[in-house]
Amino acid sequence: MFNCIFNVLLFCAVSIIASKIVEGSQPNLQKTVEAMFSDRSHEVHPGPCKLLRSTKRQVKMCDRDTGLSNAISIAKEQAIAACEETFQYDRWNCSVVFNRKLKRNIFNKIYRETAFVHALIAGSITHSVAKACASGDLSSCSCVGKFTKNNTWKVAGCGDDFRHGKRITKNFLDFKHAGNDQIAEVLKQDVIVGVDSIGEQMKEVCKCHGFSGSCTTKTCWKRLGPFNSAMGLLKKHYHHALKKKIMNYTTKRAITPKVRNKMKIDRKNLVYLQRTPNLCVSTKGRVCKDRKNCATLCCGRGHITGKRNVTSRCRCRMVNCCFVQCDTCVEEVEHFTCK
Ligand SMILES: *[C@@H]1O[C@H](CO)[C@@H](O)[C@H](O)[C@H]1NC(C)=O
Ligand SMILES: *[C@@H]1O[C@H](CO)[C@@H](O)[C@H](O)[C@H]1NC(C)=O
Ligand SMILES: *[C@@H]1O[C@H](CO)[C@@H](O)[C@H](O)[C@H]1NC(C)=O
Ligand SMILES: *[C@@H]1O[C@H](CO)[C@@H](O)[C@H](O)[C@H]1NC(C)=O
Repeated sequence: MFNCIFNVLLFCAVSIIASKIVEGSQPNLQKTVEAMFSDRSHEVHPGPCKLLRSTKRQVKMCDRDTGLSNAISIAKEQAIAACEETFQYDRWNCSVVFNRKLKRNIFNKIYRETAFVHALIAGSITHSVAKACASGDLSSCSCVGKFTKNNTWKVAGCGDDFRHGKRITKNFLDFKHAGNDQIAEVLKQDVIVGVDSIGEQMKEVCKCHGFSGSCTTKTCWKRLGPFNSAMGLLKKHYHHALKKKIMNYTTKRAITPKVRNKMKIDRKNLVYLQRTPNLCVSTKGRVCKDRKNCATLCCGRGHITGKRNVTSRCRCRMVNCCFVQCDTCVEEVEHFTCK
């Protein structure tokens, strides 16, 4: 029905328009990412997944493994916290809307930020699930049974279970049913970039066993760093994201035809489709890190320099053998706010 084999791009696009575009019914991949990133409350929803209005698949997953809802909850919290911290001094600061306009929701199109958030949420779920595996909080991990839950002893190969995290993430986001069109390709790519950013953080840790520190036997396992340590890489992906063109699209689609003339996507990069609106109008009153940061954050409008007294403990010393006593020092520091 949709003969798109010979790169007849226009024809393909027309086919997409003619196909069923159902308003308000994106695939669950988008819905879940949007729900997790947009809801900054701690509202508990009915059902076993607790933190989001879940799909049937998600309900089943949370039912099967009671530790999952907690892992997902941690994933959401750490994703948002890490995002806000990392983008604190950037024009986009992880808000859900651009320029305080509700119409400009980052999920209405596929902006650079939308691509990033898909990677962020997917990476965070992967990380949180892997960590839950390592601490024995998830029953469905491959390590279960072979793993002793104490801090001093780990069985080889059963550290943080990245592969399980990846599997659960794809399942939870309903990766398989994300659609067959080009938008789906883009978002799936963004999810994979996020998941793999976590995989790249795996480090091998080894422990020696033997008499008095000799290393006669060694146990090694893979271990993930804190989620924050993956943010550097994820932010790099945000900056290096590639813009792709497709003929016509809406993010509100359901059943879309299989598009066979696939986009050429460099599998290593985040991909987005729509240019971000100019964010300069939204940075008035934002706090900069330093003067240099103000130059970009304030978009050339300049900044106001204020002074603030910061108190801290200082000149600490031991008194009466065992107590630490400190003075309180007041230091005047400058702070900068965009005009
Ligand atoms: C941890 O588990 C190992 C293996 O079961 C055991 O030999 C070791 O004594 C345990 N350590 C602690 C602190 O409980
Ligand atoms: C894309 O398709 C929509 C209908 O779904 C149409 O309203 C819009 O004008 C099209 N845009 C372009 C650039 O062709
Ligand atoms: C992000 O910036 C907007 C102004 O553009 C501000 O209202 C909001 O509080 C900021 N959010 C965070 C988390 O700093
Ligand atoms: C900071 O404290 C010093 C000394 O107490 C005072 O002179 C100065 O005005 C204070 N600065 C601000 C910005 O409050």
